[in-house]
Amino acid sequence: MAGNKTFTMIKPDAYEAGNSGAIIKMIEEAGFKINAAKLTKLTAENAGAFYAVHKERPFYGDLVKYMSSGPIIAMILEKDNAVEDFRKLIGATNPAEAAEGTIRKMFAKSIEANAVHGSDSDENAAIEGSFFFAQTERF
Ligand code: CMP
Repeated sequence: MAGNKTFTMIKPDAYEAGNSGAIIKMIEEAGFKINAAKLTKLTAENAGAFYAVHKERPFYGDLVKYMSSGPIIAMILEKDNAVEDFRKLIGATNPAEAAEGTIRKMFAKSIEANAVHGSDSDENAAIEGSFFFAQTERF
């Protein structure tokens, strides 16, 4: 059975552009409840650890630099079928391929500065949520 939690970050480009409120509104209107939320800034070391699965990819160095370049908003979101439904809401990684009406289509600037992150599995949602939040910070 699909889990009911996913993890997201509003990335530095979207935060800097003042799109955090509009993105959170879309998330809530799509039926997700915010279970935990935090405005923070990743160090390069933490960004590297968070994206360690991409270590061998050619974009890893730039990704780490970008993700530690400014504030992000980390959130755990709750809804039935959370991981899949959230990935539909945000659209493809590359905004040029993202469907109309998706968060990335509306707010992403490039394949790297793509406005939001969304977990790709229930297992990663749990790992990524725990990366940012203690049990006591969750509702
Ligand atoms: P995200 O869903 O957070 O997961 C990995 C991130 O790497 C991705 O979003 C983008 O921000 C970034 N990225 C940069 N270049 C690429 C690429 N060519 N393919 C996939 N992800 C990329």
